[in-house]
Amino acid sequence: MKLSVHFTPFGVAPAALAGKPVIVLDILRASTTIVAALASGAKAVLPAPTADEALKVAQNLEKGDRLLAGERRCLPIPGFDLGNSPLEMTPKAVAGKTIILATTNGTPALVAADPARPVLVAAVTNFSAAAAAGRAAFEEVGELHVVCAGRERQFAIEDAYVAGRFAQMMLAGKRRSKRALELNDSAMVALDLVKRYGARWSVPIAAGAAARDLVRLRFRADVQAASQPDQYDIVPVYDDRRVTVSTRG
Ligand code: MLT
Repeated sequence: MKLSVHFTPFGVAPAALAGKPVIVLDILRASTTIVAALASGAKAVLPAPTADEALKVAQNLEKGDRLLAGERRCLPIPGFDLGNSPLEMTPKAVAGKTIILATTNGTPALVAADPARPVLVAAVTNFSAAAAAGRAAFEEVGELHVVCAGRERQFAIEDAYVAGRFAQMMLAGKRRSKRALELNDSAMVALDLVKRYGARWSVPIAAGAAARDLVRLRFRADVQAASQPDQYDIVPVYDDRRVTVSTRG
């Protein structure tokens, strides 16, 4: 059994992911926002690698059916309907809509995971549901990759800690020792972060540069919302350039 964590999508060759189960996470904030949007009844989220790409995709959809959302430097993109805040994804705003989402790190990470199957979108807010789906795929295939979006091509502590929590869940699956598993080096470090912070989601999530920037830009409530475990029992799946919900509890 092989469990790999990738602190950014940039070191992962697409061929290494092809046909393999992958969990993608961008805790602050894209994956948290996607989970919130789908839990609020959005029809689908279409991740776009850039704002220009999002605008192109929007041209092919009926105006009343779609919303453009995303951020640049954490702030809403001028001319878009929504930013990248999970708190904006209310049923009133998004139910029944297709959301085209362009973010700096999160949506490119999802697009990079395209060759994988299945691609599960995870946040703290759907942690248990995503961990159960990840474990089922891991047991079936014997391999699992956890891909962190990271930040500006670099390590992000909030993603790495949550990746460690997922790795811990995979280890717990069958009273399996670390030795029975092939862990890559990043998975070992992610597990060490869990040892360091324990079960306190909010501490490592608030510790990094992403959280500091969001607080400075008055998005403290987003950081808090992104640290609340198991708000939703859904597992969004990315397939054929769309994220939809496969399991609704
Ligand atoms: C990203 O994809 O880079 C992030 O979600 C940034 C953010 O809006 O906080």
